Amino acid sequence: MTFKLDLFLITLAVILSPVLSDLIFTKVDRRIDLTSQIVRISSTIRVENEGTDVVSEVLLIFPVEQAKYLSHIQATSNEGKGKAKGSAINFPVNVVYPKEMPPTLKFYSVSLPKGLNKGDSLTFDVFAVFTHLLSPFPETITQADVQFVLFLDTAYILSPYTVKVQSLSVKLPEARIEFYTKLENTKIHGSEIKYGPYENAPPYSFALIRFHFENNQPFPVAQELVREIEVSHWGSVQITEHYNLVNGGAQNKGGFSRFDYQARPFARGASAFSKLVAKLPPRTHSVYYRDEIGNISTSHLWGNLRKTDLEIEPRYPMFGGWRTSFTIGYSLPLQDFLFQDQGKRFLNISFGSPINEVVVDRLIVRVVLPEGSSDFSVSVPFSHKQWHEKKISHLDIDGRPVVVLEKENVVPEHNQHFQVYYKFNSISMLREPIMLIFGFFVLFVSCIIYMHSDMSISKSSPSYLAKLQWDEVQTVIQQVQNIINRCLTIHDKLDASLRDLSRTGDVQACKAARKAADASLKELSKELKSLLSFLQSAQQATQILPKVEELVAKERDLQERLVVKHMTVVDCYEKKFGGREIENRVASQQQRITTLRQEVDDLLEFIDEI
Ligand SMILES: *[C@@H]1O[C@H](CO)[C@@H](O)[C@H](O)[C@H]1NC(C)=O
Ligand SMILES: *[C@@H]1O[C@H](CO)[C@@H](O)[C@H](O)[C@H]1NC(C)=O
Repeated sequence: MTFKLDLFLITLAVILSPVLSDLIFTKVDRRIDLTSQIVRISSTIRVENEGTDVVSEVLLIFPVEQAKYLSHIQATSNEGKGKAKGSAINFPVNVVYPKEMPPTLKFYSVSLPKGLNKGDSLTFDVFAVFTHLLSPFPETITQADVQFVLFLDTAYILSPYTVKVQSLSVKLPEARIEFYTKLENTKIHGSEIKYGPYENAPPYSFALIRFHFENNQPFPVAQELVREIEVSHWGSVQITEHYNLVNGGAQNKGGFSRFDYQARPFARGASAFSKLVAKLPPRTHSVYYRDEIGNISTSHLWGNLRKTDLEIEPRYPMFGGWRTSFTIGYSLPLQDFLFQDQGKRFLNISFGSPINEVVVDRLIVRVVLPEGSSDFSVSVPFSHKQWHEKKISHLDIDGRPVVVLEKENVVPEHNQHFQVYYKFNSISMLREPIMLIFGFFVLFVSCIIYMHSDMSISKSSPSYLAKLQWDEVQTVIQQVQNIINRCLTIHDKLDASLRDLSRTGDVQACKAARKAADASLKELSKELKSLLSFLQSAQQATQILPKVEELVAKERDLQERLVVKHMTVVDCYEKKFGGREIENRVASQQQRITTLRQEVDDLLEFIDEI
């Protein structure tokens, strides 16, 4: 801070005083508004030509230390006031570098529409807006402290001309004033300090004044803001704003206690801000607000026919020096912002941030035009940098043209409308729908093809029925296999009963075993019969049927031979034949049985593999 102060003094100390013309300021009223983070100086100046030559430019001066924070200056005619208010004419203001002037002063030339003749006078207003001119002092504060700032200026307007009568009023926030410079004719009314009137100040006069006062207004500074405005001829203007925001006030030191903050937010963290309000146009819709973590729901939206207010709340209160990055997005109705003029379309929309009293160090506005637009021209009511880019998004063939505008040190006063004119062939507009239609066509065709192939599993289609039947056939064949296996188990039991007989000689038990086996085999053969008749009627089974029938026949054959063998053996036992005799009698039978058993096993295996 002291550094700035020194520079300011040096700036003023080296002033030479070459007389530039015969103009004089007959009356100057200046008002300095220090109630926010932005410094606004309005001056009403009455200028008179005392010389003989016609003069058409008036010079304004700011010390370079101030001028480098100047973000906006405008000069307007004051003549229409009262009678024809609203018809104020803007006078062009340009930076000029008159010869032999110290580099510590910056000159602005106001061009008058009509030259001032000898003796003529004119009243005009100058409105200058500065950022970062209020220096927090002390530079660091704790959560419990209020924020104080310093401001320097001169009580006399810095001017290359004699100033006959002048006065200044400085409006401070309604809070504590630590210090203000008292000169002669200084009066204070509440938070407003008045200097003057002072008479006959020679060119380049100055009188340093200094203010040290409490200012707890929010100091939101977007170090960078990228606004993307995307025009879609299909009905909307989509705006996305990426903020990199810092609280530009006194740095917080000694940490932060959320408990203290929540208990008494105004006493604890007086200069912190927890909310920002964006003033969006009426009929804004599809609003969202998110940061790196995700969507933030602590935002509120309300509006009427004239405006929409979006209140956003970062995840933590913003203390001095603290940063946050977030994005807000919203859509606007196209017809409110896109117009036609002489065969061209033009977008007419506001330039700056919609957030109240935010200072933007670097603003980038990207206007994304529909694909196929050409012949752009841009009309912005203040100086800026400009270039073109391309943006490729889905469905684009060669990308959308993007007009990029960049401006540094942007204040709410820059929230003026600007226009982007472009030519657009309506045929181009059909490109995307044609692509879409083609896409849908392809989709439908694929669907139809798919549906057709799908028919094969439709419930009523023959192939579906065939598949069902095949499933059924398979189930039945499985059941046949099961029954055959059960039969084979019974065969094994019969054999086992013969072995028991040779061991125990119990003929009755053996007969009983055959009886039981007979009964079971009869049951199973009944079941087999019905299964076979199903298979015989099933078209799907024609291939497999002969094998199944063969299996069933062989099993039956096997069964019969087994029973015969059984009876023969039992009979031999009853007749008390010897072992050898019995073996001889069943030998041929036994051979056939072994072969049949092998064939049945093979058939079972074969059918199983289907
Ligand atoms: C955030 O909100 C937007 C708009 O409502 C939505 O498109 C997006 O999917 C949301 N993102 C998350 C992570 O919820
Ligand atoms: C742009 O819109 C503003 C606000 O609606 C309006 O005042 C201005 O005349 C428009 N500019 C043009 C060139 O249409």
